[in-house]
Amino acid sequence: MAVFDVISTSLTDPLHLTLGILSVSLPVIWHLRRGKQKQAQTQSNAPPSWPFDPASLDRSKYESPILTFGNNMILPNRYAHEIRNSELLSFRDGLEKDFLTTVPGLEAMFTGTFHNHIVWDTASAFSRKLGALIEPLSTETATFLRDNWSDDTEWHAISLDETMHLLIAQLTARIFIGEELCRDRDWIQNAISYTAHRTAAMKELHAYGRLIPLAHWFLPSCRALRGCVRAGRPFVERVLEARRTATQGNGKGEDKIVDALSWIDGVADENGAKYDATLTQLRLAYAAVHTTSDMMTKVVASLCEHEELVQPLRKEIMAVVKEHGWSEAALAKMVLLDSVLKETQRLEPLASFTLSRIAREPVILNDGTRIPKGTQVRLATDNMWNSSVYPDAAKFDGHRFAKLREQEKDSSTGTVGGGGGGGLSFVSVSPNHMGFGYGKHACPGRFFAGAETKIAMCHILLKYDFELLDGALAAAQTDGMMIWRDKRAMLRVRRREEEVDF
Ligand code: HEM
Repeated sequence: MAVFDVISTSLTDPLHLTLGILSVSLPVIWHLRRGKQKQAQTQSNAPPSWPFDPASLDRSKYESPILTFGNNMILPNRYAHEIRNSELLSFRDGLEKDFLTTVPGLEAMFTGTFHNHIVWDTASAFSRKLGALIEPLSTETATFLRDNWSDDTEWHAISLDETMHLLIAQLTARIFIGEELCRDRDWIQNAISYTAHRTAAMKELHAYGRLIPLAHWFLPSCRALRGCVRAGRPFVERVLEARRTATQGNGKGEDKIVDALSWIDGVADENGAKYDATLTQLRLAYAAVHTTSDMMTKVVASLCEHEELVQPLRKEIMAVVKEHGWSEAALAKMVLLDSVLKETQRLEPLASFTLSRIAREPVILNDGTRIPKGTQVRLATDNMWNSSVYPDAAKFDGHRFAKLREQEKDSSTGTVGGGGGGGLSFVSVSPNHMGFGYGKHACPGRFFAGAETKIAMCHILLKYDFELLDGALAAAQTDGMMIWRDKRAMLRVRRREEEVDF
């Protein structure tokens, strides 16, 4: 009876009720915050990673098996064509599961919302306007390099990972948010931090399973992430307000594209869509910055490891820019540079798996393989390291795709590109090269990323000598899923006299 009295008093009296809730929830919150802080520390001290070795993934001698664990399945590369556009295997559900897009702070990718789907539209619209982006991207690269790599003709050291993050964040911001903020270190740092905290928050949250809806309120990484969204608002709102005032009465639309901030605002206005401009910008930065800076880091490191490519690349850039000026046509004519980018991505893509999808219904593949409803499917990208597809596949050959393009010109039946020709330029996708995914969800930002990377590399190659301070330290790493260059790698650079005036 006494126990019943205590319980019933607690439930009816607000003071007791509050104390009761606090006595249960405070230890849980304390545990979440302390426990996870400790876990984060342990994780950062000993990241579970090992050297990435493409030779160990060569499946030319034996076919890779279908791997099943729990309700996850990894399908071998040979299923690429069959699953890429399947309506039963949902890209959206895969996104929500991997990226926890319904959690506050992480919601910028929540499907169906304006700030998520506008990223696709922006990437597509700006891919059609690449010509107009070349001058601002080139000017911005020149500014960044002068300010950060300096005109010093003596060797000096910089962090490879950090400098590529800052460069790509500045270039991306130049096109997506505009001139006012792209050189503002506080905005740039906040956009970079958003991506870092988002990645950490997703990793931590996945460990909580059904407790995610509660845990995210207390985990330090999630709180830091929401802090980034709050910190970003004054920047975006200030610039957007100024832009709206300036464009009042001028009309908007395709022809007025200056940067994505104004363009997106115009699209929202035309469609009567209410949206969160800060989440949109952070969503764009999330899609564009770490992916492209990872690519740049790997290309620069690969060129340091294959310095015999540097002079031929400089010669190609000089000849092409002399003939075509700074134009979209010039970028397309840089075939060796294109080949080096594609070869770098072939050997070291972002991840060893792609096409993350969830089965909405039970699926039976053409060979009878069953995928139960609710299974999360991923596709192995192992054709990229398969020596029956790419001879000597584990070896970096910067000329590989340039040579294949030459051969393909002479034959009507391309095979490496996936059959029927094509598939050999940096931005093309095929079952044999899925660095940008494959099928209808393949990366829409790849044309922008390709142009941005080429422009940045032209400036770096012609204006600087560069080498790794310690080659071994820059080696590629993996955690079994993602592939990256060691973040501790340092670059030595010195200014040289460029042969063409940029
Ligand atoms: C080198 C740089 C980049 C790499 C390696 C990369 C890679 C990828 C990959 C592998 C996918 C998944 C495709 C799939 O599951 O089929 C993807 C999707 C996506 N990427 Fe990229 N990406 C890069 C740059 C960019 C940029 C610059 C943007 C934006 C402007 C962007 C926007 C997107 C979007 C919106 C999606 C989702 C596609 C969808 O919703 O259907 N990416 N990217």
